[in-house]
Amino acid sequence: MTTVTAAEAAYVVAALLFILSLAGLSQHRTSRSGVVWGIAGMIIALAATVGLASRSITATGLVLIAVATALGAGIGLWRARVVEMTGMPELIAIMHSFVGLAAAFVGWNGYLDVDAELTGSLLGIHHAEVFIGVFIGAVTFTGSVVAYLKLSARIDSRPLTLPGKHILNVSALAAFVVLTVAFVARPGMGLLIAVTLIALALGAHLVASIGGGDMPVVVSMLNSYSGWAAAASGFLLANNLLIVTGALVGSSGAYLSYIMCKAMNRSFLSVIAGGFGTPAADDDGEQGEHREIDAEETAQLLRDASSVIIAPGYGMAVAQAQYPVAELARKLRERGVEVRFGIHPVAGRLPGHMNVLLAEANVPYDIVLEMDEINDDFAATSVVLVIGANDTVNPAAIDNPASPIAGMPVLHVWEAAHVVVFKRSMAVGYAGVQNPLFFRENTQMLFGDARQRVEDILRGLDALDAPVPEMAGTSR
Ligand code: TAP
Repeated sequence: MTTVTAAEAAYVVAALLFILSLAGLSQHRTSRSGVVWGIAGMIIALAATVGLASRSITATGLVLIAVATALGAGIGLWRARVVEMTGMPELIAIMHSFVGLAAAFVGWNGYLDVDAELTGSLLGIHHAEVFIGVFIGAVTFTGSVVAYLKLSARIDSRPLTLPGKHILNVSALAAFVVLTVAFVARPGMGLLIAVTLIALALGAHLVASIGGGDMPVVVSMLNSYSGWAAAASGFLLANNLLIVTGALVGSSGAYLSYIMCKAMNRSFLSVIAGGFGTPAADDDGEQGEHREIDAEETAQLLRDASSVIIAPGYGMAVAQAQYPVAELARKLRERGVEVRFGIHPVAGRLPGHMNVLLAEANVPYDIVLEMDEINDDFAATSVVLVIGANDTVNPAAIDNPASPIAGMPVLHVWEAAHVVVFKRSMAVGYAGVQNPLFFRENTQMLFGDARQRVEDILRGLDALDAPVPEMAGTSR
């Protein structure tokens, strides 16, 4: 067997392992094995690629590849070990930017180092691959960097609304098509520089135009772009595995974006085209008086409740409040209170974020319900505890057509008899939109760190249970 056929056979095995990995990652129960399949596939892919390249690379080149691989693997292992669960989305976004940057570099390299054997229409195809690869790579690069900055709160998560933003996007796409034709006919560095600059600007603008509430779709969309960028590099490098893997990532990311759009009642095309309307004028304004409650009063309210729904959000993850929250649910259930959790599909910062936290704290699966399963039950519920959620319980999504989150399905927590909102201040949620829930008659704010407040409530419940000490002088 020649080195080439051995490498191609290894590529087929690696591609199958990647497919198994995707299948494994689609369910909580099998996700660990999904990760193991993915690691195995990547090791085989790297070994086969280096083996293939070793035929034409010097010893120094191989040493450089080994050093680069060790450095990259070291940095990757370190980041994966230290990253907080709440920091995962921005880590994913910055990794997508590396894929985009690599694809743009591969494209440029393809232009600067053309295989002398390529002539006629094959050369034309090569130049089209260069141009398209650079374009997709550069869009992915800056789009992912802006997503990283938004997700890590380094820049405002509100949508950038330049005048004529859709015309700008369409013009950039039209320029790309015209320049591609020109480049294939007469390749030149000026055209490649022009398309690189246009793509860098377009990527940044597309993501900057999308509001915080729609960032989940953006993350999966950039995932898809990074896959297509890798596939484009695969064509340029004549690497079948990169083409297959890129197409797998690209198509699965596109499908995930479609599912997310459906869950959030968004149009897939408008997200790709750069987001939604403008923030309503009164988004940041106060909307009346809010009322406060303390932990002891909340404990009293819960003691008298017959049914409780807990709606967790990003703040629960920040406070790491899932453990006392699980303890609170257990205590209330022991007293005969019906306790359930209502999970919004984009609560937190990752798909399934809340489910993972609650599973970690051993909350039974059967009391954790999806939004569609529980939304009709709020009206018959005594108390709702909103623990660090904000956008996902915002009635403006239903009541205010001018709101940037208008149309997004939300948990109907306000329909319950009493709502207690746990947060540290009156600050807005991730989408940057004020929440009228906080000013409703039946809502009370419990300020402070969610973990500390839930622990205070647990102590309050214990105090309510404790036998009342006898008054001095009443005993004989
Ligand atoms: P958010 O709207 O992000 O609000 C979280 C709330 O938690 C904030 O209002 C904050 O208020 C409070 N909080 C933060 N730390 C806290 C602490 N230690 N103790 C108590 N409260 C704390 O939450 P959400 O309802 O989960 O909505 C998620 C948002 O993220 C949506 O807009 C969604 O589109 C977006 N997003 C989601 C994803 C995915 S896939 N899930 C990915 C990217 C973006 P204070 O600062 O006043 O405490």
